[in-house]
Amino acid sequence: MADVPATFRAFVAERTTAGFRRGVCDLTLDDLPDGEVLVRVAWSGVNYKDGLAARADGKVARRDVLVPGIDLAGEVVASDTPAIAPGSQVIAHGYDIGVSRHGGHAQYARVPAGWIVPLPPGLTMRDAMAIGTAGFTAAMGIAALEARGLRPSSGPVLVTGAAGGLGRHAVAILAARGYETWAATGKRDEAPRLRELGAAGVLGRDEVTAGSTRPLESARWAGAVDAVGGPTIPYILRTLMPGA
Ligand SMILES: NC(=O)c1ccc[n+]([C@@H]2O[C@H](COP(=O)([O-])OP(=O)(O)OC[C@H]3O[C@@H](n4cnc5c(N)ncnc54)[C@H](OP(=O)(O)O)[C@@H]3O)[C@@H](O)[C@H]2O)c1
Repeated sequence: MADVPATFRAFVAERTTAGFRRGVCDLTLDDLPDGEVLVRVAWSGVNYKDGLAARADGKVARRDVLVPGIDLAGEVVASDTPAIAPGSQVIAHGYDIGVSRHGGHAQYARVPAGWIVPLPPGLTMRDAMAIGTAGFTAAMGIAALEARGLRPSSGPVLVTGAAGGLGRHAVAILAARGYETWAATGKRDEAPRLRELGAAGVLGRDEVTAGSTRPLESARWAGAVDAVGGPTIPYILRTLMPGA
């Protein structure tokens, strides 16, 4: 392929009979998995999962030789799909990327066409990867709530695990979209930062994980982004507004 060098650099984590090693090495296009779209990677985030994929005890990698990087942004070099033109800027997150197939921590990646998203107008590739998979996931959750009718006029929205990777993005996105956003966190010292991101109020973790014998309590939330699960789910269900 004319534009692609014979070898390119990649960060590789490898499990061998001699142990576990990781480092930057040279790959060729033949090392990349099948897929319709070849991307020259410009940026990739560093997700917690990428750290696990690069550790012997991480339990994330699904292959012995793996290029981590669960997301990537770059320019299409070659495409078997008319809908994704060479030269276009794209992003890809999740699926098997950086887990059971080589991911974004390389100069080139090959990705199935169905996993590719055109870079939205107004967003740089760098910013897309700074937002990362955590921000993308938070945004998907909020888009799903809005597709089901949530609006700022619906009432307050709760974010649990608000000081975490996904939660803080959810707080920032909801607040920027005009929602009265409440952040639940176990880290009291994060409260000022969550307010800076736009939280109207901060709840303690105890409140949103407490058990209750009552199936319903005062209807408080028009919606919720739950980044925790487990004990927060019953709390959310018994405090949602009717129709939420
Ligand atoms: N990050 C991603 O790219 C991504 C993508 C897809 C799905 N997910 C999933 O989304 C969830 C959140 O991910 P994350 O990246 O935001 O994780 P994270 O950074 O570890 O944040 C999780 C937050 O949950 C809260 N928490 C932890 N243990 C708790 C407990 N026992 N009781 C109540 N709250 C507790 C903490 O919030 P406070 O610090 O505020 O107390 C913690 O910061 C995970 O299930 C993850 O697998 C993440």
